[in-house]
Amino acid sequence: MTFGTFDLFHIGHLRLLERSAALGDRLVVCVSSDQLVLSRKGRLPLFSEQQRMDIVRSIRCVDKVFVEEAKGLKRHYLLEHRADVVTMGDDYTNKFDEFNDIVEVVYLKRTPDISTTDIVAQIRSLKPAP
Ligand code: CTP
Repeated sequence: MTFGTFDLFHIGHLRLLERSAALGDRLVVCVSSDQLVLSRKGRLPLFSEQQRMDIVRSIRCVDKVFVEEAKGLKRHYLLEHRADVVTMGDDYTNKFDEFNDIVEVVYLKRTPDISTTDIVAQIRSLKPAP
């Protein structure tokens, strides 16, 4: 299982999902709800939770997608889906260690030089051609 926002789906997201899938026989992805993103980041995602879930579900290596409804439910979700392994990019290093008692926690190296935040900043700074 893995967790994330997956807003403006990009190559770092794809690589993370592919490498996660390679660690097991089923990949379940928990996508943060719009309200959770708003409370964590102070702004709504650009793509709605329904759109983000539809995109992630369409990725070949993904078997199941569901929405993360609220804070504090990760343990419940991991148990409910009988996860053996949870993966996160290494920007989350140590943040999932609390689940070591029920799953193997694997931090994967992030794909360099790309993030949703950077893409938004790049688009904002685009200037019209002279
Ligand atoms: N991820 C990754 N490599 C990247 C970007 C993201 O491996 N270049 C991973 C994250 O570590 C996480 C998952 O993809 O495990 C979902 O990340 P998410 O926060 O949705 O994407 P970001 O691009 O990091 O978004 P933001 O800039 O809004 O934090």
